[in-house]
Amino acid sequence: MSAEQDRRKQFAADLAADRIEPGMIVGLGTGSTADLVTRRLAERVAEGFPVTGVPTSSKTAALAGSLGIPLMDLQHVDHIDLTIDGADEIQPGTLFALKGAGGALLREKLVAHDSTTVLLVIDDTKIVDQIGSRFSVPVEVVQFGWRIPARELQRLGATIELRTGADTQAPFVTDNDNYVLDACFGPIEDPMALSHLIKEITGVIEHGLFVGVVDEVIVGDHGGARILPLDST
Ligand code: A5P
Repeated sequence: MSAEQDRRKQFAADLAADRIEPGMIVGLGTGSTADLVTRRLAERVAEGFPVTGVPTSSKTAALAGSLGIPLMDLQHVDHIDLTIDGADEIQPGTLFALKGAGGALLREKLVAHDSTTVLLVIDDTKIVDQIGSRFSVPVEVVQFGWRIPARELQRLGATIELRTGADTQAPFVTDNDNYVLDACFGPIEDPMALSHLIKEITGVIEHGLFVGVVDEVIVGDHGGARILPLDST
C-alpha cells in the first residue's frame, strides 16, 4: 500500500471522525481506513470527549480498547447513532458496497443494521462502475458441510475459493467461528437480486454485498476528502 493511498485514507477518516458528536453511540468499523477513524476518535476521547464505541470485530475491539475508547457490545445497546466503516468497492450513485475482505462482514452488517446512519470511508481506488469488478464477494458460511453452499454459489455462476489465513493453508475462521468463501462473480449486474439469491442458500450466514445499507460515503483523493451522496432519484 502506497504512502499516497494512506494519505487519501487519512483525509477521509479525519472528515468522518468530525461527524461524531458528543454522547453518540458509534459503530467502529474494521480495516485500515476504519482504524484511522478509531485512532482519531481516541485522540478526542483522551481530551475528554464523551462517546461509546461498538466494535465490528475482535480486532477493532482490541485496538479501540487499547486506545481508551469506552466500548459496549452490540447486544448491550438499543441503537447506534452512527457507524463509520471501510469498504472494498463502492458504486457511486446507489452507494452499493462490497465489504468483507477483512473477514468481519457479519458483525459489520449487524452493526450497520442497527445504525441510524451508516457512513463509509474509502480512498478513491475503491470506486468502481459495478460492484464485483475487482473483488470477490465474501460469503460467511458454516464450517460443517461448507462444500454445500460452495456448490450452490457455483451454480449461481461464481468461481469459489475457501479463504485461508494470511500465513497458512488452514481455513480462515471468522470471529463467529465460521468459514469464508470468496465467490468471484465478476461485475454484478443486479447486486440486490444476487444478495437475495445468496441469502437463500442453506449454510450461508451472511455475505459482503451491502445493498440499501449505506447512507453516505466519504472519499479521500489527492486533494482532500469529498462526500458521495446517495442518489435516491
Ligand atoms: C472488513 O471486513 C472489510 O469490510 C473492510 O471494511 C474493508 O476490507 C476495507 O478495509 P481497508 O480500509 O483496509 O481497505
